[in-house]
Amino acid sequence: MNIVASAGPALALDVAEAESIAELRHQAEGCTRCDLYRNATQIVFGEGPGKAEIVLVGEQPGDQEDLAGRPFVGPAGRLLDRCLEEAGLDRRRCYVTNAVKHFKFTQRGKRRLHAKPNAGEIKRCAWWLGAEINILKPKLVVTLGASALYALLGPKVKLTPERGHILQPANHPPVLVTIHPSYLLRIRDEAEQQRLRQDFVSDLHKAAAFRPR
Ligand code: URA
Repeated sequence: MNIVASAGPALALDVAEAESIAELRHQAEGCTRCDLYRNATQIVFGEGPGKAEIVLVGEQPGDQEDLAGRPFVGPAGRLLDRCLEEAGLDRRRCYVTNAVKHFKFTQRGKRRLHAKPNAGEIKRCAWWLGAEINILKPKLVVTLGASALYALLGPKVKLTPERGHILQPANHPPVLVTIHPSYLLRIRDEAEQQRLRQDFVSDLHKAAAFRPR
C-alpha cells in the first residue's frame, strides 16, 4: 500500500456534526453550498448500509439519478452493478455515493447533457463526502474516476498512474483508485473496451478481497 502525504478536500475537513447518515442526508436536503442545487431536481445523497465496509464514490448524479433521487441507477450504474457482480462484490454491502450531490448539466433542447463539475463545486460538496466517510468509517473507499479521486486525495494524485493501487492517506481509510464505469461506455473499440472492463472488474475484485492490516 502506498502512503499519500496529503489528503484532498473531503478528507482534510473536520466534519461529522451529524451522528448518522439519515441525519446527514436530512441536513444535505437544504444544501446551497454551491449553485448546482438551483437547476437540479433534488439532491442525490449516498445510500447503503450504515455499517458498510466499502464506500464507492462516483462523480455526480446523471439525468436518471437526478429524477430518481438515487445514485448509480442509470446506464453507468447498471454497468457498475454487472462489474461488481463479476468481481464478487455485492452492491447491497456497499455504500454508494458521489463526490458531487447535485446533477450538473447543459440543456440541449429537451435533453440534459452531463457537464463536468469544476474544482470549486467538488470542494464545496466535499463537506458531505467527508462527513459520510467520518460516520461510516469504512475499511476501504473506492474512487470511481478523476472527480472522486480529486475529492478524496486532491490535485496531486493522478488517476492513470495510480489506477488499481490502494493508497493510504494519513489517519483516513485506504483509497482504491479506479476508473469511472461511464468511461467504459464511451469506448468505441470493442477489444479495448473489453480489456479496460476486465481491469475495472479486477480492481473491484481487489476491493472485495481487501483486508485492512
Ligand atoms: N455517474 C456517477 O458518477 N454517479 C451516478 O450516480 C451516476 C452516474
